[in-house]
Amino acid sequence: MSRRHDAIQAVLARQGHRPEMLLQILREAQEAEGWIARDGLAHIAQALGLTLAEVEGVSSFYRFLHRRPVGRYRVLFSDNITDHMLGAPALMAQLCALLGVKPGELSRNGLVSVAHTSCTGLCDQGPAALVNHRHVLTRLDAGRVAHMAELIRAQVPVSQWPAAWFEVHDNVRRADVLLGTPFEPGSALRAALALGADGVMDELKRSALRGRGGAGYVAGAKWTACRETPADIRYVVCNADEGEPGTFKDRVLLASHADLVFEGMTAAALAVGARQGLVYLRGEYSWLLEPLRALLQRRRDAGLLGSAVCGSGALAFDIDIHVGAGAYVCGEESSLLESLEGRRAYPRHRPPFPAESGYLGRPTVVNNVETFAAVSHILLRGGAWWAGIGTPRSTGTKIHSVSGDCERPGLYEYPYGTRVAQILQDCGAHDTQAVQVGGAAGVCLAAPEFVRRLAYEDVPTTGAFMVFDRSRDMFEVARNFAHFFEHESCGFCTPCRVGTALVARRMDKLAAGHGSRVDLDVLLELDGLMHVATHCGLGATACNPLRDTIAKFRPAYEKRLKSLHFEPAFDLDAELSVARRMTSRDDAAAHLGTLP
Ligand SMILES: Cc1cc2nc3c(=O)[nH]c(=O)nc-3n(C[C@H](O)[C@H](O)[C@H](O)COP(=O)(O)O)c2cc1C
Ligand code: SF4
Repeated sequence: MSRRHDAIQAVLARQGHRPEMLLQILREAQEAEGWIARDGLAHIAQALGLTLAEVEGVSSFYRFLHRRPVGRYRVLFSDNITDHMLGAPALMAQLCALLGVKPGELSRNGLVSVAHTSCTGLCDQGPAALVNHRHVLTRLDAGRVAHMAELIRAQVPVSQWPAAWFEVHDNVRRADVLLGTPFEPGSALRAALALGADGVMDELKRSALRGRGGAGYVAGAKWTACRETPADIRYVVCNADEGEPGTFKDRVLLASHADLVFEGMTAAALAVGARQGLVYLRGEYSWLLEPLRALLQRRRDAGLLGSAVCGSGALAFDIDIHVGAGAYVCGEESSLLESLEGRRAYPRHRPPFPAESGYLGRPTVVNNVETFAAVSHILLRGGAWWAGIGTPRSTGTKIHSVSGDCERPGLYEYPYGTRVAQILQDCGAHDTQAVQVGGAAGVCLAAPEFVRRLAYEDVPTTGAFMVFDRSRDMFEVARNFAHFFEHESCGFCTPCRVGTALVARRMDKLAAGHGSRVDLDVLLELDGLMHVATHCGLGATACNPLRDTIAKFRPAYEKRLKSLHFEPAFDLDAELSVARRMTSRDDAAAHLGTLP
């Protein structure tokens, strides 16, 4: 048998021939060559007892899986608006020109491809790019790009590129409880074991901790539902998908405070009666995989994971890490579970919620990285102490990922309830026109709203805080987000699949100067429709930035309206250019505009 076959066989054996590990198997199987041929997929399908169609369906869903040969060097530039503002499009064009390759295509010699990818979670140190999905490049500039082109042409392995290019800084600018308190591994677990499962639940409820991943659900209520659902097996899942554009706090928690996260997960296991934990790490953060695995091993060696955690017969628990493969929708908890089970990440119908029927149909606690980190501190200092920080409905501290037009981008941790203006002052923002809070799916605030507070009582947030000064064109900001949602729509339901595409096309039409007021009305109509008709939160929130910017920055749209009358999005004259070329006719009479 071929080497390829042997390599796949080894991956299958390592993953125990389990169908739910399909995504991990595909990721690992393509590691050697960067792609998997059809016969490889067929081999995997047969070994797992799946159909080829099922395996092909999964491999075609995730952007970091490839079914055709790819270049030895695959450079993906982060496409977030903050990377754009730092010059990413010009750098990508420079690299393409130097290597003689078109964006999105493989070079003729099969050596390199250069393309875009959604936000890589490095907005505080962009422009950023991924190489071969595994290496991150930060703070790119024209000099680095020119040097990179030389190294690629000389076929120098990525491992031999200058180490400084791969440096990722934490950029913690303001630390509070989570980022600033020294933590001794094991201390929160010993506190949890002393409290017992019921005591842990009591402290969690007393803390009124709400999830930090977006929906803000009360963690105590979720854990209660999980432990009260009758089952033989339960799971604890950490959502480390962090795909929301402009968010990078989980990256830093995982890079420098992962003990807090793992300890929070282990305490959850004690509280709900789980023996297995899973971290779903976004593919863009796969550079964190080895350090995290090493930390898990150290925790096993120290007795903080395993068959008797802290030497106690009361708790047996271990944690495994699954790596995603480039799909924002996987951050939605039910899509994440589908992905963990090795399928296409289509969001599930809810109810039942994951706490009742989650991973492999078992009750599952799914929480964000920051939520688990907070649990560890709550166990050490008590729920009442945590509830005393922040505001009545938003207890504790919150980490904000600050990027864009400011002197000091990075992480800022404050008690909930901090005003937007305070953060702007602390990060060195000047002449600020707008702040996009909570990522692309969040809310866009204009200057009169900077007095507002970041808390569930006022402006909820996942933690993204993108700053735009008065030099920025807010229409282009909204257009960038429209393309993001079109790109990331999973395609499962028509209102979102078609709606996000219609929105992006109309924004392009406006950008090209062909828009009319009717287009603005249609955009607002699409917003209304998608809010009510889509299957999951991605589609429901996709038009948020559009709606906010039309309401608050209307002149940015109106200056593009060449006509007050409707102009169709479909440009018939342009479409006929192919026919004109084929018939060698390009005279005036062959153009629609000249017809009577
Ligand atoms: C489109 C979409 C993307 C999401 N992405 C994330 C994410 O990257 N990380 C996260 O923790 N939650 C994300 N969520 C929220 C999760 O569905 C879920 O509410 C969260 O993981 C629960 O954890 P928490 O209660 O600790 O916040 C996303 C939701 C939607 C609709
Ligand atoms: S709303 Fe969008 S992302 Fe969600 S299921 Fe529908 S198509 Fe998929």
